[in-house]
Amino acid sequence: MSNILELKNVSFDYFLNGEASLRALDDISLTIEKGEYIALIGSNGSGKSTLARLLNAILLPTAGEVWVDGLLTSRDEHRWEIRRRVGMVFQNPDNQIVATTVEEDVAFGLENLGIPSSLIKRRVSEALERVGLSSFRNHAPYLLSGGQKQRLAIAGIIAMRPHCLVLDEPTAMLDPRGRREVLDTVKKMNRREGITVVHITHFMEETLEADRIFVMDRGKIVQSAKPEELFNGETDLNQLGLEIPVLPRLIRMLRSEGLDIPANILNLNDLVNILC
Ligand SMILES: Nc1ncnc2c1ncn2[C@@H]1O[C@H](COP(=O)(O)OP(=O)(O)O)[C@@H](O)[C@H]1O
Ligand SMILES: [Mg+2]
Repeated sequence: MSNILELKNVSFDYFLNGEASLRALDDISLTIEKGEYIALIGSNGSGKSTLARLLNAILLPTAGEVWVDGLLTSRDEHRWEIRRRVGMVFQNPDNQIVATTVEEDVAFGLENLGIPSSLIKRRVSEALERVGLSSFRNHAPYLLSGGQKQRLAIAGIIAMRPHCLVLDEPTAMLDPRGRREVLDTVKKMNRREGITVVHITHFMEETLEADRIFVMDRGKIVQSAKPEELFNGETDLNQLGLEIPVLPRLIRMLRSEGLDIPANILNLNDLVNILC
């Protein structure tokens, strides 16, 4: 079985005061294969963050089952192993810093796992190397840029050798350069190291290199498609509160002007090559 994540008829209700409850996820079934890069999009309140929290057992489903690597999230004895295997990165880089130096910050999670200190040292250097922060190892995290802070958060998770990285709008608070840094780091973890990625974002441009895009709307996954299928296809993204990225939009316009552009073009270089 090569599925790393599997949801079977999963619903999730938030219980509000008294009897009232709010259905945030409504009967979702999906599978994600080992090594896939999934982008998850959808308007505010569609249930993306709730889904992310179910993937590493921060939340448990009200109905249905969430499986991670063959482990069931609602089994108490699986919970810590699931949290190690599925690392989460959140929106606000400042909320994820726990120590006074970069190196200690990465070591923190490993110490909690009870890993011997000689091994911790090695894993910390390795993780910092992988996100390109080696030269900052003795710096104070609060002095880092937003993009560097998010790479530090990724290093802290990578050090725990996760199988899957779930990122909940990790670039939302960053400037364009920081966004680029984080996106490149995440892509590298996926393409070079085979870590499965679930990347929640509201920047449509960030979804173009995903293997598949899941679109959420009111607690349901309403689409699951390759980027070129989604953006060249029939789905009315505007209706779902989303927009088509500039490049696929431009390609649509060029096609409607009669230019013959192949269906799989999704980056600027390829488009320029074809036009010239
Ligand atoms: N802690 C909470 N308590 C009650 N309702 C919540 C809570 N968190 C989210 N919700 C509600 O659940 C729905 C899905 O929210 P969320 O998963 O945060 O969506 P998204 O991340 O796509 O914006 C929304 O209607 C939201 O208001
Ligand atoms: Mg959210």
